[in-house]
Amino acid sequence: MNVTIEVNGERRTVDVDPWRRLLDVLREDLRLTGTKEGCGEGECGACTVLLDGAPVNSCLVAAGQCDGRAVVTVEGLARRDGGEVLLHEVQRALVERGGAQCGICTPGIAVCAAYVIDAEPAVAAAGSGAGGDGDARAKVRELLSGNICRCTGYQLIVDAVVEAARARQGGGSR
Ligand code: FES
Ligand code: FES
Repeated sequence: MNVTIEVNGERRTVDVDPWRRLLDVLREDLRLTGTKEGCGEGECGACTVLLDGAPVNSCLVAAGQCDGRAVVTVEGLARRDGGEVLLHEVQRALVERGGAQCGICTPGIAVCAAYVIDAEPAVAAAGSGAGGDGDARAKVRELLSGNICRCTGYQLIVDAVVEAARARQGGGSR
């Protein structure tokens, strides 16, 4: 079956079994290897991409479900301005805060966190409520609860996402 997907803003057509996992289409057919496989069964979030703007586990999505739809992978979070690559503010914050951990969990975390920053401004608002920082951190932990790191802590990730949310709330742009 021919499946046409807008991937990171570019129309791509692949001839695949409609039941082939989106994760495999991205990594093997389109060579977008930033998206990683962890558990392969919808538990870890390593394979997170945006499908029509919402985070999904690409290991649980069939290629046939994506025909005519838009996918954003970790490779598509940054934008280009002429020759310059401008990281999404959550990518910048992850790097600056030391929240970019291993290559397996980080791409999914970056995609999910970018969704949070772009679509859930309440995250930043939580930080300015009565509970202050604690509220913001609790909210970010809840929103990223589908992204699991098997080996270390979440503190620097949460710090980075809260910082990026506040930068966005303060009028920063992608
Ligand atoms: S690899 Fe898809 S959720 Fe773990
Ligand atoms: S799984 Fe990536 S740092 Fe733990």
